Amino acid sequence: MTAVSVVELEGVRIRLGGRTILEDISMTVNEGEFIVMLGPNGAGKSTLLKTLLGLIKPSAGMVRVLGRPARRGNKDIGYAPQHRTLEADLALRARDVVGFGLDGNHWGVGLPNPKRKGLIDDVLREVDALNLANVPVGQLSGGEQQRLLIAQALLTNPRLLLLDEPLANLDISREGEIVALVTRVCRDRNVAVMLVSHDINPLLPVVDRVLYMANGHSALGTSDEVVTSQSLSQLYGSPVEVVQALNRLFVVGAET
Ligand SMILES: Nc1ncnc2c1ncn2[C@@H]1O[C@H](COP(=O)(O)OP(=O)(O)O)[C@@H](O)[C@H]1O
Ligand SMILES: [Mg+2]
Repeated sequence: MTAVSVVELEGVRIRLGGRTILEDISMTVNEGEFIVMLGPNGAGKSTLLKTLLGLIKPSAGMVRVLGRPARRGNKDIGYAPQHRTLEADLALRARDVVGFGLDGNHWGVGLPNPKRKGLIDDVLREVDALNLANVPVGQLSGGEQQRLLIAQALLTNPRLLLLDEPLANLDISREGEIVALVTRVCRDRNVAVMLVSHDINPLLPVVDRVLYMANGHSALGTSDEVVTSQSLSQLYGSPVEVVQALNRLFVVGAET
């Protein structure tokens, strides 16, 4: 049986504002894989996700999602953007905000109300937030809001889930809950997940592979292969030390 490639990049170069952000990225992501994306600020992690969404066009190379060129409004992709705060929506109920996931690409417009409600209830249940359905978003914690964003991204039953820094600003136990939730969703739905994080440690026990981005280039492999002094020094083009202590990995010398 041949595995379906969910993402295929070949020689992708991205230029923004006259600067080359990504030089030459090639990689393949398989069905149901859980990938964590790491790298310093400005490495192009968010840019890469937007490229998969068809929002940014490469100046060279090939981008395919499920065998087809990247395109806007692809409902095979669920996306929770970085820095997405629900501030504009604070007065809305959780279920209304989640429902935007159906309207964003006009897919849900015109769905009969009971069907719509059923779909929203299903994803709320899946992220353990059904009890929050009618609560105004402004009354929810950061972790609860993050659950809603994940629910919203799941509404169209995607094959690829892009989560841009879903662990930012969460305390350690909320962080653990979101990691557990995403892991469960990934395994139960066999959906490929690409999750951007600034820390690999909460994800080390659960991810399949690590995509490390720096200097316009990337390294993809298991954490044992990629998160090593040798591999990261090569990627950065300068000495980087990976130190293991207290059961955690620390990357030293990478951020300038
Ligand atoms: N629309 C844009 N125009 C010009 N430069 C951009 C644009 N968007 C992002 N950049 C630049 O591209 C680089 C990569 O940004 P980003 O993908 O957000 O990095 P990351 O998510 O890894 O922190 C940064 O230097 C950023 O300033
Ligand atoms: Mg980013």
